[in-house]
Amino acid sequence: MWTGWWLWPLVVVCTADQFRDNAVRLMQSTPVIDGHNDLPWQLLNKFNNQLQDPRANLTSLNGTHTNIPKLKAGLVGAQFWSAYTPCDTQNKDSVKRTLEQIDVIQRMCQLYPETFLCVTDSTGIRQAFREGKVASLVGVEGGHSIDSSLGVLRALYHLGMRYLTLTHSCNTPWADNWLVDTGKDEAQSQGLSSFGQKQTGSLVMVNFYNDYVSCKAEANLSQVADHLDYIKKVAGAEAVGFGGDYDGVSSLPSGLEDVSKYPDLVAELLRRQWTEAEVRGALAENLLRVFEAVEQASDHTQPPGEEPIPLSQLEASCRTKYGYSGAPSLHLQPRAVLVSLVTLLLSLYLL
Ligand SMILES: *[C@@H]1O[C@H](CO)[C@@H](O)[C@H](O)[C@H]1NC(C)=O
Ligand SMILES: *[C@@H]1O[C@H](CO)[C@@H](O)[C@H](O)[C@H]1NC(C)=O
Ligand SMILES: *[C@@H]1O[C@H](CO)[C@@H](O)[C@H](O)[C@H]1NC(C)=O
Repeated sequence: MWTGWWLWPLVVVCTADQFRDNAVRLMQSTPVIDGHNDLPWQLLNKFNNQLQDPRANLTSLNGTHTNIPKLKAGLVGAQFWSAYTPCDTQNKDSVKRTLEQIDVIQRMCQLYPETFLCVTDSTGIRQAFREGKVASLVGVEGGHSIDSSLGVLRALYHLGMRYLTLTHSCNTPWADNWLVDTGKDEAQSQGLSSFGQKQTGSLVMVNFYNDYVSCKAEANLSQVADHLDYIKKVAGAEAVGFGGDYDGVSSLPSGLEDVSKYPDLVAELLRRQWTEAEVRGALAENLLRVFEAVEQASDHTQPPGEEPIPLSQLEASCRTKYGYSGAPSLHLQPRAVLVSLVTLLLSLYLL
């Protein structure tokens, strides 16, 4: 029928809006849990972590992918903030830098309590959802941050860290980094060394960095949706999540320029006939399912691993060797001997 042809553009526009409206409606009850945001790194770079600097005010912060109005517009319900320190801190001050990034995340929650709620478990995420706040969690980016120490890993856990990525752009003594796959770095562990081996079974939180999305400088929202489609195809819709890497990357797909754009991506998934249940899974429920399983597994019925990494696998640079056999024990050190001697003499005198 030729009559009514002029209505078609209108129909298309209405349908487009309808997907966006449905996305917003879905996200009002199931807001997005994003797995990775580097705003803390921007706060270090731009303001040396001084949050009281008026320019650092998160309600008006500009020049970043993330600020409070953008988080609200993006219906972000939970964020794993990245406590990231670059690879040039490896074997140097990586642990200190990581601690400072955890501190700045916690101070963000203190300074903006009406927006952020720092939490460490799935119950806390659900509570933030109910209160309309952004549940804020800590993820540590790069295995170099623990300096090959399970003790540091556990201490970071006590400070609120809830994930550690295996590597950033440097090998650790227990896992090879992604540059090995590109031929730009030497293989050392052929993937994970026996010290680094861990169990699998989780979800993939898709990174939006152009180079990862399209292997080019340019990318668009629809290509990110292609990745989500692909993961759904090979691993199932229950394995899909978002981990945008906002404020950690130099280029982002057109249509996904900042954290306010998540509803547009969700609209695209609905347009591609993802069911509401699948979309809710990708937004939040897949992460919550995995997080709850992790919480069950970490119920402390198993004793913590105590075996240290072999000393020979660590770089010597500025490292002491306490605890390893062959390393000088404290009481043999001249200064300590002196202190003991003085103590002994004092006790004799007092007698
Ligand atoms: C960004 O923020 C700074 C300081 O808060 C302000 O001086 C500047 O005008 C802002 N720029 C834009 C484009 O809003
Ligand atoms: C940020 O700016 C807003 C609006 O000017 C102000 O109300 C708020 O107190 C500021 N917050 C901080 C932490 O400086
Ligand atoms: C996204 O980019 C791809 C590859 O360049 C292109 O084929 C496609 O038309 C683009 N999609 C949109 C909606 O711009």
